[in-house]
Amino acid sequence: MQLSDLEQLYTKRQSCREFSDTVVPEEVIGEICRVALLAPSAMNAQPWKLVAVMGEKKDELVKALQRLGMNKFASKASAAVCVVASKGNFFTQVGSVFKENEFVRNDLGILTAHLVLAAEAAGVGSCILGWRDEEKLRNLLGLGKEAVVPEVVVLGYPAEGYPVREKKRKPLKDTYQLVK
Ligand SMILES: Cc1cc2nc3c(=O)[nH]c(=O)nc-3n(C[C@H](O)[C@H](O)[C@H](O)COP(=O)(O)O)c2cc1C
Repeated sequence: MQLSDLEQLYTKRQSCREFSDTVVPEEVIGEICRVALLAPSAMNAQPWKLVAVMGEKKDELVKALQRLGMNKFASKASAAVCVVASKGNFFTQVGSVFKENEFVRNDLGILTAHLVLAAEAAGVGSCILGWRDEEKLRNLLGLGKEAVVPEVVVLGYPAEGYPVREKKRKPLKDTYQLVK
């Protein structure tokens, strides 16, 4: 694999906000999650679980992501994959005392990045949704009050003709620096 192959994947990966009626099979969703879970984590603690929600339960869950009329497109997604924090291991827990839980949060962010890129490689569109009703989400997933669900990623095939948008990113001079 060349860097240019990855660049192509990163460029094609975009937040998909229009899904087709064709449902992504659950086996494909499972494969995307399996591959994403190869992501690295601090001290290999893997402080996470991916909970893929489909069918009627997904219809219900999506409502928790649509407060104030936001994220209407999510209704047509095939699945909502919830990135749920779990305990990690002894070292990350000790580390977190000093780093204010940064390790777990970072690990979950890295996993989410792997998830959306794995989806893209499987021809499945994705959108990370940060706008949500936390309590509703936790209740729907049967999680306790302390549970952390920092990201939900909706997955589905992009609608036919959905365009690949040009990436709008800050100029490299503002976001990359070489120090020698
Ligand atoms: C943590 C996080 C939360 C996000 N929440 C939402 C959201 O609630 N609704 C939405 O439409 N997009 C959401 N996005 C998508 C961003 O708007 C999008 O990634 C950004 O504008 C760059 O566009 P691109 O993903 O198409 O490259 C979220 C992205 C991240 C990383």
